[in-house]
Amino acid sequence: MAVNAAVCGAGAFGRNHLRVYRELERDGETVKLAAIIESNAARAAALKKEWQVPVFSSVEEALAARDRGEISIDAASVCVPTSEHHAVAAPLLRAGVDLLIEKPIAATTAEADDLIALARQHGRVIQPGHLERFNPAVLAVKPLLNKPMFFEAHRLSVFTPRALDVDVVLDLMIHDLDIVLSFAQSPVREIRAVGLPILSDKIDIANVRLEFDSGCVANFTASRVSTEQVRKLRFFQPREYISIDYARRDVLVIDVNGIPGSAAAAANPPAGLAFNKPQVRQAEPLRLEIEAFLESARTRNAPQVSAEDGRAALALALAINQAIAEHAQRAGLA
Ligand SMILES: NC(=O)c1ccc[n+]([C@@H]2O[C@H](COP(=O)([O-])OP(=O)(O)OC[C@H]3O[C@@H](n4cnc5c(N)ncnc54)[C@H](O)[C@@H]3O)[C@@H](O)[C@H]2O)c1
Repeated sequence: MAVNAAVCGAGAFGRNHLRVYRELERDGETVKLAAIIESNAARAAALKKEWQVPVFSSVEEALAARDRGEISIDAASVCVPTSEHHAVAAPLLRAGVDLLIEKPIAATTAEADDLIALARQHGRVIQPGHLERFNPAVLAVKPLLNKPMFFEAHRLSVFTPRALDVDVVLDLMIHDLDIVLSFAQSPVREIRAVGLPILSDKIDIANVRLEFDSGCVANFTASRVSTEQVRKLRFFQPREYISIDYARRDVLVIDVNGIPGSAAAAANPPAGLAFNKPQVRQAEPLRLEIEAFLESARTRNAPQVSAEDGRAALALALAINQAIAEHAQRAGLA
């Protein structure tokens, strides 16, 4: 049976969810784009024409139509601004709807905990929208992980007046925090951070150093006020350097086993570095993410990215913001 899917919040990113649900439907997947929930009246009117599905101005209105038997909603993408995630997601969970909630899962850990409790109580799936987990470059690197000890993440964007309800840590850096948490597999021991508001009244650029219990260290730079677009994660593990370009969806592995003078090179003389480009399957991350979500909704299996993962990334992002505030205080910037 087809999963009846709704998109709640059809702004800049919600439109991508709409497109992917419709593409999946057209490709014969067992999903149907069943409704759009959009509070902006002008946008809602245009969406109705464009997508030819019922459009509602609120979750309550959509659920009332469902109760009257006018539509079915089994699953939904929550793509409203982060500050609204909890207000929109809670009634949907109570009404028995499985949710793909855009990142970050919520604005506070209390809100995230409440959503997790509601999902348990109502037997619902929550998959937080940590899209980079489904980036084919990340998927290609997962089998190569071997005790990574040093990460360097750069995520730079040009300024656009969007997502200004949150700072750059919750907006952009959270993607890399989630990936590094999933790769490092160790609790964070120490956070050093600096951040500044530049064009908005929230932190627009931030640099963070994390140290994990394992001894692994990770540096992150995130900016939404740059002149260029960069999305890179580089890391070192024993005798290996791996570079991921999220935007180009490619991976470079440099193996130092062949360096003259190294133990491995002494045993196996050919000199030089071995450059390797692992095969990366070309697929759209959002499509893979939504396919994984629909699979969980159909099978009731746990989602590939759990609500707890989303909560952990959020908690770390909020701890980083606390460290940024403390640094600002020490530096006389507050
Ligand atoms: N995964 C990614 O790479 C990625 C990229 C961009 C944005 N996002 C996330 O997507 C979410 C939305 O971001 P955006 O840039 O699309 O924002 P946006 O402001 O462009 O769109 C949000 C839409 O939600 C609507 N809305 C607000 N409150 C509503 C409510 N209560 N009910 C129904 N509709 C409501 C607004 O009218 C607007 O159309 C954020 O959580 C953001 O972090 C994720």
